Amino acid sequence: MGFGAFVSIIVLTFFFEHLACQQPNTDDFFVSEFLKNMSSASSSSSQAFNLSASVCSWPGVSCDASKEHVVELIASGLGLSGPIPDNTIGKLNKLQILDLSNNTITALPSDFWSLGSLKVLNLSSNQISGSLASNFGNFGLLEAFDLSSNHFSGEIPETISSLVSLKLLKLDKNKFEHNIPSGILQCQSLVSIDLSLNQLNGTLPQGFGAAFRKLESLNLAGNNLHGHDSDFSGLRSITSVNISSNSFQGSFLGMFKEQLEVIDLSRNQFEGQISQVNLNYSLSHLVYLDLSENRLSGEIFQYLNAAQNIKHLNVAHNRFASQKFPKIESLSRLEYLNLSKANLHGHIPAEISKLSNLSSLDISLNNLIGEIPFLRSENLQILDLSYNNLSGEIPQTVLEKLPSMEKYNFSYNNLTFCSLGINPNILQTAFYGSSDNCPIAANPKLFKRTKERKGMELALVLTLSMVCLLSGLIFLAFGCRRKTKSWAMKQTSYKEEQNISGPFSFQTDSTTWVADVKQANSVPVVIFEKPLLNITFADLLYSTSNFDRGTLLAEGKFGPVYRGFLPSGIQVAVKVLVVGSTLTDREAAKELEYLGRIKHPNLVPLTGYCFAGDQRIAIYDYMENGNLQNFLHDLPLGVQRTDDWSTDTWEEGDDMNGIQNASSEGLLSLSSWRLRHKIALGTARALAFLHHGCSPPIIHRDVKASSVYLDYNLEPRLSDFGLAKIFGSSLDEEIARSSPGYVPPELCQPECDIPTPKSDVYCYGVVLFELITGKKPVGDDYPEETEGTLVSWVRALVRKNLASRAIDPKISDRGIDDLIEEALKIGYLCTADLPSKRPSMQQIVGLLKDIEPPAAGEKS
Ligand SMILES: *[C@@H]1O[C@H](CO)[C@@H](O)[C@H](O)[C@H]1NC(C)=O
Ligand SMILES: *[C@@H]1O[C@H](CO)[C@@H](O)[C@H](O)[C@H]1NC(C)=O
Ligand SMILES: *[C@@H]1O[C@H](CO)[C@@H](O)[C@H](O)[C@H]1NC(C)=O
Ligand SMILES: *[C@@H]1O[C@H](CO)[C@@H](O)[C@H](O)[C@H]1NC(C)=O
Ligand SMILES: *[C@@H]1O[C@H](CO)[C@@H](O)[C@H](O)[C@H]1NC(C)=O
Ligand SMILES: *[C@@H]1O[C@H](CO)[C@@H](O)[C@H](O)[C@H]1NC(C)=O
Ligand SMILES: *[C@@H]1O[C@H](CO)[C@@H](O)[C@H](O)[C@H]1NC(C)=O
Ligand SMILES: *[C@@H]1O[C@H](CO)[C@@H](O)[C@H](O)[C@H]1NC(C)=O
Ligand SMILES: *[C@@H]1O[C@H](CO)[C@@H](O)[C@H](O)[C@H]1NC(C)=O
Ligand SMILES: *[C@@H]1O[C@H](CO)[C@@H](O)[C@H](O)[C@H]1NC(C)=O
Ligand SMILES: *[C@@H]1O[C@H](CO)[C@@H](O)[C@H](O)[C@H]1NC(C)=O
Repeated sequence: MGFGAFVSIIVLTFFFEHLACQQPNTDDFFVSEFLKNMSSASSSSSQAFNLSASVCSWPGVSCDASKEHVVELIASGLGLSGPIPDNTIGKLNKLQILDLSNNTITALPSDFWSLGSLKVLNLSSNQISGSLASNFGNFGLLEAFDLSSNHFSGEIPETISSLVSLKLLKLDKNKFEHNIPSGILQCQSLVSIDLSLNQLNGTLPQGFGAAFRKLESLNLAGNNLHGHDSDFSGLRSITSVNISSNSFQGSFLGMFKEQLEVIDLSRNQFEGQISQVNLNYSLSHLVYLDLSENRLSGEIFQYLNAAQNIKHLNVAHNRFASQKFPKIESLSRLEYLNLSKANLHGHIPAEISKLSNLSSLDISLNNLIGEIPFLRSENLQILDLSYNNLSGEIPQTVLEKLPSMEKYNFSYNNLTFCSLGINPNILQTAFYGSSDNCPIAANPKLFKRTKERKGMELALVLTLSMVCLLSGLIFLAFGCRRKTKSWAMKQTSYKEEQNISGPFSFQTDSTTWVADVKQANSVPVVIFEKPLLNITFADLLYSTSNFDRGTLLAEGKFGPVYRGFLPSGIQVAVKVLVVGSTLTDREAAKELEYLGRIKHPNLVPLTGYCFAGDQRIAIYDYMENGNLQNFLHDLPLGVQRTDDWSTDTWEEGDDMNGIQNASSEGLLSLSSWRLRHKIALGTARALAFLHHGCSPPIIHRDVKASSVYLDYNLEPRLSDFGLAKIFGSSLDEEIARSSPGYVPPELCQPECDIPTPKSDVYCYGVVLFELITGKKPVGDDYPEETEGTLVSWVRALVRKNLASRAIDPKISDRGIDDLIEEALKIGYLCTADLPSKRPSMQQIVGLLKDIEPPAAGEKS
């Protein structure tokens, strides 16, 4: 038992000793009634204390000189639960300090708002819901008001204007909505305001900055507020400002004030050139600066040297000009440095080793080259170098530190870590990239908590075998049935959506699905990597505009997929798994948790899930560049269709530069065999991982062009793995729903075989043919004698030694036709009628690597 709990039992029993002897309508009586009513049975059952004295001598209680009136009641963390009844503490009319924080109180009594003498009120960390009564304006003497971490909703009443003595206002972590009332401008004594993590919207009241001359700390983070940097001018005592995750605009420079120590402007729409923060601003007080995920341009400051005390610097994900790594070595106190996606090129300067207190370094998503310099690793906990072009070996100091680090990521570089002694077979089959001797460290799987690790090898082997073994078991355990079609056709009106109570319908082009959920905000959404992110089905509804057709990305075999932006800006693909299964929610959750742990650079990661009534919703990382189906067949070469989903991405993307670069390159690259080969190889690696890296093997069962997505870097990623078995149906139905042109012969026959890894190989062969020919599996113009399928057509050509005729004329890097013909032959092997004649995915990876086209002449 913790000390706190022990103390609370003592305190409670102490209180209870006195319950019998209270006179009605005295403060003694009100306090003891209150405690008697609110204490749960468990917390009062212990040894009795015998302290015969008035309530005034109880711990946590203070009285005035007359000993008749309680002026202070501190009952924090005593396990008080339920609604506070009337005629208890609401009657303590001399009460000045009331602290009921850290209990499970659910409602306030109606006589509560008559406590006009209160100076300090702390109700934080309870479960109080409902809106704030407007007669809270009675608390004219209040100096500190803390309602944080409750379930309050509705508007903050205008009568807040009466709280003219208020110095500290904490309403954070509730569900307050609508505007910040202009009445707050009357609270001119305020020193600290925290309204963060509510659902406030609209603009700040006019004259906001000028009203608060004494304000030192302002936190409006995590709302949906709009406004401009000028709204904050006039805050002349401010030392800490946090307006992260809102929609503020203007020049971030307007937010700078000399005395500021903490500035968090992240996730807004601020603009401006950061290099203008020059010596005009003495930044010597600055300790924390977060400007990430805005629209800053130009170069990162060269005058940062003035910020001698800075410990936390984040300018990631902006729109900087291409530039060298900024000079930061004089910022010797830095503990956190985030320059991710800051358009950096060139080398990482060796001076970075001077930052001895650095514990977190993120320079991912840049174009940095050369070797990793020596890094002081004593304090290093998080290191992300992914998505650069770094080469050479990972320094020994870093390697040795890895097992005790919290997170690290070296993916998508040209790095080696030969010294590690990892079984090369595991790496060759399971990880992206490998060379003759040294495996390339290109494995996002490494980017995870590793606290319990004894060593890299152990961890890798464990992760691989455990995850796959477990998921394999799960798949076996899943007995799934296809749910019979029972579409209710309830149309959810706009009004109802606002109330976020269900049932809710999902619209696709062909059907409407219904999730029978009563209260959308009581249905949690689990996001694996962000367990503290408190989002609900209501957020999913909001982020997909109630599963609006406009956000529909695709209608897949397992159900429709929508695009959404979760709160905190995570962009996701939301897949509604419309097929039921016999698993309970609990079992299904467990399985999804396991699926979420299967990671490979060529698999689309499962981000989280949500159970909404009968519907199970899987949430995936959003893939910026669509799927191979769009890429090969839907878009004319080099042209964006205006009604295409990909256009939206570019408009809404938080950093246009990166995506546009990647995508315009990508569109051009459709003519590039090198890119198509990369897609073929990556997809093969994903399947090799599922088949050979896992025991028992995971059979995908739905390999096709539209299951292969292209990420930000145009790296292929296979989607939907694991779903076939989990949400699948009987074999007959599954085959019936298979995509035409992709069904292996052994599954077409009257006597169906069960799918094996070799059936995936067949489907992979079809995808490979699509990559080479640019044609669709069925429906393109095929001669009659070839059954109208791509497979028969290509196989016939290969047999007649006319393979070159099958090659897509759009492929422009010719002169390597022999390599492409070799690829065609691999596809031929994959599509053999007899499963036993088909190569394994592992062999296919090897074959494709042998015909890797030369880099020469390629645009990088
Ligand atoms: C608490 O007070 C409410 C309202 O006065 C009453 O209904 C309830 O029975 C009381 N509970 C206890 C345990 O005294
Ligand atoms: C409580 O303490 C008083 C005085 O110390 C004593 O007279 C009385 O018997 C005690 N009661 C109990 C139940 O122990
Ligand atoms: C809340 O109360 C519990 C005991 O009920 C205690 O252990 C915990 O430390 C308290 N938390 C805070 C923040 O005071
Ligand atoms: C309210 O109580 C919590 C702990 O229960 C504490 O952390 C917080 O600082 C208190 N608020 C005020 C304004 O004193
Ligand atoms: C603010 O949110 C409320 C509901 O929470 C909504 O009715 C209102 O239209 C919103 N206002 C703005 C300006 O977005
Ligand atoms: C700003 O507020 C957000 C939301 O509460 C929080 O995550 C972030 O850490 C805060 N920033 C600072 C500097 O405290
Ligand atoms: C900095 O000061 C110089 C003169 O001292 C002035 O010309 C310049 O405009 C100032 N820059 C900013 C960004 O305020
Ligand atoms: C760096 O900032 C980006 C953008 O806000 C964020 O996504 C990333 O997680 C940060 N990295 C670390 C290590 O905190
Ligand atoms: C590094 O951190 C330690 C411990 O917090 C502190 O004593 C030391 O002054 C810091 N070093 C620098 C250069 O700030
Ligand atoms: C990777 O690095 C090696 C030398 O370390 C170099 O030969 C090779 O060209 C590099 N590959 C790429 C794709 O940059
Ligand atoms: C990576 O760096 C090598 C030289 O180290 C260079 O030849 C190659 O073009 C770079 N690749 C990219 C994609 O920038």
